Order: sequence, then C-alpha cells, then structure tokens
Amino acid sequence: MSRAHEGVPPVPDPLAELYRRQAAVTAMGGPERIARQHQAGKWTARERIAALVDPGSFEEIGAHVLPRAGGVDPGEAPADGVVTGFGRVDGRPVYVYAQDFTVLGGSLGEMHAAKIQRVQDLALKTGCPLVGINDSGGARIQEGVDALNGYGEIFKRNTWASGVIPQITAIMGPCAGGAVYSPALTDLVVMVRGTAQMFITGPQVIQAVTGEQVSAEDLGGADAQLRKSGVAHFAVDSDAEALALIREILGRLPANNLEDPPLRPGRDPEAIDLRTLVPPDPNKPYDVRDVIRGIVDQDSFLPFQEGYADNLVVGLAYLDGHALGVVANQPRVLAGTLDINASDKLARFVRFCDAFNIPVLTLVDTPGYLPGTAQEYGGIIRHGAKVLYAYAEATVPKLTVVLRKAYGGAYLAMCSRALGADLVLAWPTAEIAVMGPDGAANIIYRREIQEAADPAAVRRQKVAEYRAQFAHPYVAASRGYIDAVVDPADTRRWLVRGLATLLNKRERRPAKKHGNIPL
Ligand code: HXC
Repeated sequence: MSRAHEGVPPVPDPLAELYRRQAAVTAMGGPERIARQHQAGKWTARERIAALVDPGSFEEIGAHVLPRAGGVDPGEAPADGVVTGFGRVDGRPVYVYAQDFTVLGGSLGEMHAAKIQRVQDLALKTGCPLVGINDSGGARIQEGVDALNGYGEIFKRNTWASGVIPQITAIMGPCAGGAVYSPALTDLVVMVRGTAQMFITGPQVIQAVTGEQVSAEDLGGADAQLRKSGVAHFAVDSDAEALALIREILGRLPANNLEDPPLRPGRDPEAIDLRTLVPPDPNKPYDVRDVIRGIVDQDSFLPFQEGYADNLVVGLAYLDGHALGVVANQPRVLAGTLDINASDKLARFVRFCDAFNIPVLTLVDTPGYLPGTAQEYGGIIRHGAKVLYAYAEATVPKLTVVLRKAYGGAYLAMCSRALGADLVLAWPTAEIAVMGPDGAANIIYRREIQEAADPAAVRRQKVAEYRAQFAHPYVAASRGYIDAVVDPADTRRWLVRGLATLLNKRERRPAKKHGNIPL
C-alpha cells in the first residue's frame, strides 16, 4: 500500500500551488477594502503601477514576502502591503514600489521596508530611476522598533541614491510622521489633491499642543505642501494625473548621473514678440513665462513648484530638442526680488539639473534681494548663499540672458559670468549696475540733492544721469562680463547655437569628499 493510502495528503500540483498563492497576493486586502479604496478616489497599488509603466511591462518581485513579526497575521498581509518590481516607461527600465492601503493600511513593517530597500538597492546598482508610491498609515504599530529601523534603512538608501538616479515620489494617501522623510529625500514629490496628506504632527496633536485648529487637508494636503511649505513640487487632481506626470518627467531625465537626458525632435517656439515684451518703464512688470515660451520649444515648458516662491520660475523645457532647465526671475511677483524661499527653490533646482546633466538657462530681471527684518532674521544670507553655491558648483552648460534689471549681489547670483556662466547675453533693455538708479543717485549725489533749491528736481535729474551713464548693458559688455548684447528676436538662435557648442563641455572641480553648502 502506498503512503497516500495511509492518510498522508498528496503532494500538491506545484503549479496549482503557485497560482493559488498568486491569487491570494493579487486579492490584497480583499474586495471590501478595495471598494473602500476606490470610494475614496484612490487606486490600488497594482492599478497605480499599471498606469505608470508601459502596458504589460511590470514584473513583480517579492510577492511572497510576508511579515514575520508577532502580532501580525501573515494571512492578512499579502505581499506585506507593498508591491515592488520593475517595468518600463517609454521602453526605459524603472524600479517601482507602491504601498497598498488595503493591506494593514499600507503600514510599514520590517519586511515591507525590506522590500522597498530591495528595489532601492537594485535601482542604484543598475542606474535606473526609482518611483515610490506612498499610501500608508506609517510605521506598523505592531512591529515597533523593527518598523522604525525599516524607515531608517530606507532613508539611508534615499540619501545614497541622491544625485545618482532620479528618485520620484507620488503621495496618494496618508504619509505622516517620520514617514514623510523618504519622500523629502527624493528629487521630486507629486501629491494628489484631496487624498494625499503629509505632515510630521497631525491636526489632533497640533490642537492638543498649541490649541490651533486646522483640517488635515489645510495642514498637509497637496496645495498646502506645494504653496506654503514648498515640500511638494506638483499638486494634481487624481492618481491618473499624477502617474501620467511622472511618466512625462521620467521621459525628460537620464536614467542616472552618467547618462545624458534623452533628446526629442526640436520644435519652433510659440510666436511671441520678444522685442515688445519688456516694458520700457523699468518699474512695469511683465510675465517672464512669456519670455520662456517665446524661447523654448513649443509646449515644452514644465514648471516645478508653481505656486511657491512665484517671484522665481523654474522648470524643465526643451531647446531645439535638448533638455534644458530654466530659471527666471518673475517681475510680476515681488518685482522679481530674490528672497529666502526663491533662493531655496533656485538652488535645489540648479543642483537637480547639474546632477542629471541638464544644461541651465537663467533669465535675469531682478532688482536684488528682498529687504526686511523677516528676511534678515530668517537667514537670507545663508539661503542666498545657496544660490551662489549651486551655480558656482554646477558644471553643466550654463547660459544666461539679462533681460532687464541685474543689480548688485543679485546680478552676480543669477549665474553671472563670474559664477561660471558659459554664455552671457543681454538684451538692449538690460541694466547692469551695482545698484538701481534711485538708490545710487540718492547716495552719490546726496549733498547736491540736499543743498539744491528744488531737491526733487535735482534728484530726478541725477537719477536720469545715472541711468544714462550706468543703467544699460554696455559697461558690463565693455568689460567682457556680457558676451553679446542681442536683439531679443535673436535670443533663441543665440541660445540654440550656444547650447549646441557647449554640449561637450567638460569642467572639473577639485576632488573632495563633498562640499559644505550653507544649508
Ligand atoms: C498598523 C494600521 C496603521 C498602522 C492604519 N492601520 N495605520 N495598522 N499600523 N500605523 C490599519 C487600520 O488598523 C485599519 O485596519 C486599516 O489600516 C485602515 O485604517 P483606517 O484607520 O480604517 O483608515 P482611515 O480611516 O482611512 O485612516 C487612515 C489613518 C489612520 C489616518 C492613516 O489609520 C491612522 O491614523 N493610523 C495611524 C497612524 C499612525 O499613528 N501611524 C504611526 C505614525 S508614527 P483594518 O483591518 O481595520 O482595515 C510613524 C513613525 C515613522 O510613522 C518614523 C520614521 C522615522
């Protein structure tokens, strides 16, 4: 008699067992929780990944990973609440993790964290971008310090990968407490309005400690983290929009720091008359985004952090098919002054471009740094120094166009020749001087103005004299600080040719462990 007849169960068909287990993993938190997820306007982890990668390109790794901690029923935790693997975006490889809120609230335990670390390690080793999709109740309470340690291991890998591979995070649900720091360590954060929330301490804690009442959305929703804190780079209306945006961004970036960004077919810019765009009155604003659109390939400009420090515009574009980072003072907001937030926005963007071999175009029209005690006490010296540091450190091709005002320290800061610009152009409307005509006349002609019978008239006259003498591009051009004064209509031609010539630029800095950017 065979053993099977003695009551020993038959060996299961190995394939049937595999498919039974796969089905359990695919079911994740079960139909009820999935329905609740959909009612909340959120997709599941696998639905999100399917929308992110090219159709059919995703391969999941670690599907059989389960929690091993006491207090968590492994049967309740398929894939340990996070889907990890690799796929392709526009045919280019990418690693992904997506937390699934339907499994234990997407909470992060030891093995959940280990799965994320696995794709971080693989992405770094292979030089592939990593996209993280966050939707989680945070540290899995039952797993205690093992969960905390898991976060630490993730933060460390985020840091090691920084500047080597693009790391993009989508926030599509709760992301609270220390959990926010993995997204914050990545290059770009995309948040979905209405469902994404990021905060260190939630509304209840804030009310208990400070008495302040604030809703979760107002505290840490997409618009709050985009506009108020500058933590998020993009706020969008749905999971679908977020994932389409991430595909678009990945398409503009190299896979890693050793590659160049992909080329696209060049396109003519929008038909915008640059000759008449800058008003003759230096105190009249205009929208610098029109200048950008009049220079770069049509429909290619993708602004970052729109709504935060809008006195400075930054974003990715294409110039005759080449990827380009654009930095521009915005005279419409705070007259285009540089303040603390604009400095941080600028420095981080320039370093992002430099890390990923994206040339930087800087459009200058700034009267200087924003005055005030709030700025001084807030550390504008320290924050403004980041701008100098980022530009001086960057080795990518750097092109600068002075549109109008470029005064004093801000002239230097906005990628001047002294900071290493490779091509510096000025429009005939440019005013490059140590300070604006009003301030300058008041100082150097103070006595004459004071002693005049009609001080106001003399002041006006002295301002006009100063303007005629200094507030134009030709003094700077005569010293070689400006390479060419150009007709605005020729700007694009100059930049296209300049960039094409600079693409093989190689510049080295002294070897060091790392710099000490004033943080
Ligand atoms: C274990 C959790 C969990 C957690 C949620 N769940 N958060 N399980 N650990 N941290 C489970 C719930 O028990 C529930 O299980 C399911 O996930 C869905 O949660 P709900 O509360 O029903 O959902 P919702 O009403 O949408 O509320 C979501 C939430 C809330 C706001 C995220 O769950 C919440 O406040 N969770 C606790 C958040 C928290 O304090 N986390 C620790 C933060 S400390 P069932 O079985 O009912 O579906 C931290 C430190 C990190 O993260 C430090 C790193 C340095």
